[in-house]
Amino acid sequence: MKHKMLLVLSVLSSAPVLSACSDETRAPTGGGAGTTQTGGSGGTAGTGGVGEGGEALVCNAPYITKGPWVLGVDEANAKVRWEACDMTATGGITFSEEVGGGDQTANSTVTTITLAETHKAVLNGNAAPDYAGTYYIHEAAPTGLKPGTCYVYSLNADSSKKGRFCTQRPAGESFSFMAIGDTNPGLGHTTGVLENALPKAPEFTLHGGDIQYYDSGLETWASWFPIMQPMLSAGAFFPAIGNHESEKEEELAEYALRFFGDAGFDGGETYYRFQTGGVHFFSLNTEDSIGQGSPQGTWLESRLAQVSALPDYRFSIVFFHKPILTCGDTGDNPAARAYLEPIFLANKVVLVLQAHMHGYERFDLGDITYLTTAGGGGLMGNVDENTERDYCNMRVASAPAYHSMIFNIDAGNLTGTAIDEDGAVIDTFTTPVP
Ligand SMILES: [Fe+2]
Repeated sequence: MKHKMLLVLSVLSSAPVLSACSDETRAPTGGGAGTTQTGGSGGTAGTGGVGEGGEALVCNAPYITKGPWVLGVDEANAKVRWEACDMTATGGITFSEEVGGGDQTANSTVTTITLAETHKAVLNGNAAPDYAGTYYIHEAAPTGLKPGTCYVYSLNADSSKKGRFCTQRPAGESFSFMAIGDTNPGLGHTTGVLENALPKAPEFTLHGGDIQYYDSGLETWASWFPIMQPMLSAGAFFPAIGNHESEKEEELAEYALRFFGDAGFDGGETYYRFQTGGVHFFSLNTEDSIGQGSPQGTWLESRLAQVSALPDYRFSIVFFHKPILTCGDTGDNPAARAYLEPIFLANKVVLVLQAHMHGYERFDLGDITYLTTAGGGGLMGNVDENTERDYCNMRVASAPAYHSMIFNIDAGNLTGTAIDEDGAVIDTFTTPVP
């Protein structure tokens, strides 16, 4: 992983705020370095780290504390990651084609981090704390996979920890994926959202950012993972970075990027691209500028021009956290929109996914559909707070609803369906695509 691992020496105890989606951010700072080694194979019980106030993480065999999850999938490769709390945890995965076939194995490399602070969900004693201590991210990277093929895998340390992923499809093939944003599962809505979307068997998930909310006082990363595991096990995970990835000092590096950094290809530490079926996906980080002259803007502009010239190019989808247009209760970004929209139109960006404004919106601008899909569990917002904005006459659907999206891409059409936490369809649309 190319992000920096950090060693934090101070003890932090910040007061929680039960809020919707605060714009407050704390910029991460660099420092420290991780170490990498080859995954081990069995061992004795470990002690884990010692947390704040003398509390310790209990680390028992098989020592798996988070995951697994999958990132960085292309036509022949994938990255399967999980976290262990002891360096002697068994490494590696066993995998096979989902339709059947022989078992294959891939070893894992291990990146170590020592965290100095313990973070608790102070309003929820049932949420496991994120204890200070030393943790080990395993990454198994199977190679030589078949394109357009779904695989199932399990961890060699614990065969009950398992999942699936699908490799990049040849251009023109149909596929489906899920999108979700602003997941605050401690509030209790996310489980229903996932239960009603995952049976549609999406091949991967886009996350619009605000992945976990310490600020709600209801959850930690340790409590987030078990609730979200059905989604993480269903397919690859491609997140965008939101403001809540930086609630704590160093959270972005020590947690969000340690788990989900290098999710795709190209780009920078927090923005990237990937493709499947001739459809190209771009994840932008709206905590940094996406405007004209910004590194991300320049990168997006050049890469869209590059991929749209490929012979098997169909179209692109761009996703990011803070909306550039919304009629709800957050800011918009007319300057970024004025810069980006001509680039979108010139390069067949047919769908833009936004988050941050907790609710659902769909804007039909003709050649481009903008969605706000930020009902993954964070406290519901007011989707009508700023309907006087001059583009709100182009908003064709909205709902203050906990939901996720299922997208189906077929020959000639992209269909999106917003499904709420009870399984009701709150909106559906179809747009023609190349
Ligand atoms: Fe947000």
